[in-house]
Amino acid sequence: MPLRRTEIITPFMVMDLLERAKLLEAQGREVIHLEIGEPDFDTPRCVKEAAIQALEANETHYTHSLGLMELREAISQQYLKEYNVYVPPDQILVTSGTSPGFLLILSVILEPGDEVIVPEPYYPCYPNFIQYLGAVPIFVRSEPEAGFLPDVARIKKRIGPRTKAIIINFPSNPTGQIIDKKTLEAIASLGLTIVSDEIYHGLVYGERCPSILEVTQDAFVLNGFSKRYAMTGWRLGYVIAPNTYMREIQKLQQNFLISANSISQRAAIAALRDAREDLIRMLSVYDERRTYMLKRLGELGFYLPIEPKGAFYVFCDLGHIHHDSVELVWKLLEDFGVAVTPGGEFGKSFRSYVRFSYANSLQNIEKGLNRIEAFLNTGQWKRNS
Ligand SMILES: Cc1ncc(COP(=O)(O)O)c(C=O)c1O
Repeated sequence: MPLRRTEIITPFMVMDLLERAKLLEAQGREVIHLEIGEPDFDTPRCVKEAAIQALEANETHYTHSLGLMELREAISQQYLKEYNVYVPPDQILVTSGTSPGFLLILSVILEPGDEVIVPEPYYPCYPNFIQYLGAVPIFVRSEPEAGFLPDVARIKKRIGPRTKAIIINFPSNPTGQIIDKKTLEAIASLGLTIVSDEIYHGLVYGERCPSILEVTQDAFVLNGFSKRYAMTGWRLGYVIAPNTYMREIQKLQQNFLISANSISQRAAIAALRDAREDLIRMLSVYDERRTYMLKRLGELGFYLPIEPKGAFYVFCDLGHIHHDSVELVWKLLEDFGVAVTPGGEFGKSFRSYVRFSYANSLQNIEKGLNRIEAFLNTGQWKRNS
């Protein structure tokens, strides 16, 4: 019998889609992947070289449970340079990706029965982390017309005696929206513990996305190397936490994870110090794809509430075709060989939406959108059932 703890965890539909797509590919079909939230770029050379050097130098042992001091210092310098905030290295804990970081942070702030505000649309894993710990996610819809920014007035009304925290994520998965300082200040004024997922920081096209630490030091930040440095498989992230929580988080890390990967930590130091040129190159390629995708989706008649200014996603409404995109997404995969993510994954009230990822080559994006155009031209989806 499955336990309540695991029974409530929902599967990641995007993984189900991906697995089906892989099966189709194994059968000789070509599938265009516009569903994946993973950079298609290779990890920058300087990062790979640092890892090779670390291996050659036999840096193959456990590290300090908080992470290598040199890496924590480099992270601290990055927050000073980019956000003009000083984060002491002993308030940084290096983790095996941001994902376990969530578990560590939420474990030290939540008691069973506590509530956590989760603005919708959200990264699908958030409610699972919360529920796994016996706490309750409270979904509060962010309106497309308000640029998908958290609706602070609406959130205020949902705060009760058990409401402990709020999770925010900008640049956002799935909307690509960035946030402004004024909205961050309004969120900080709610008096809740803030958990800010800043994993897409650095992936912005024009405007800057401020860190929560610019408006309050009393917040938890999650960040990592997966997206910005094309290092998903290296499994490296970090947590920034208020001093009073550090020992508790460290105890969990020591017991559950010991330390993050030693080679990846060396590689991450090189990413922070030497990958600037690679970052600029990747950003310019993403931006070109973003512009192209927005133009084509607009021409196809999809409703784009905002111009996404960060991450590598476009979230648009297909409500004029179908009220729930799941059926449509599977049909698109099976009949036309294009994989996209249904909006319902990011919150029930966004079921008519679809998330497109432009972490794929311009050539593939063009091919994928041509196929979507052909799909729409069949006429079978010009209804609102
Ligand atoms: C918003 C968000 N947070 C966290 C993660 C997980 O990142 P990591 O690879 O660091 O575990 C992802 C990955 O898709 C994400 O989109």
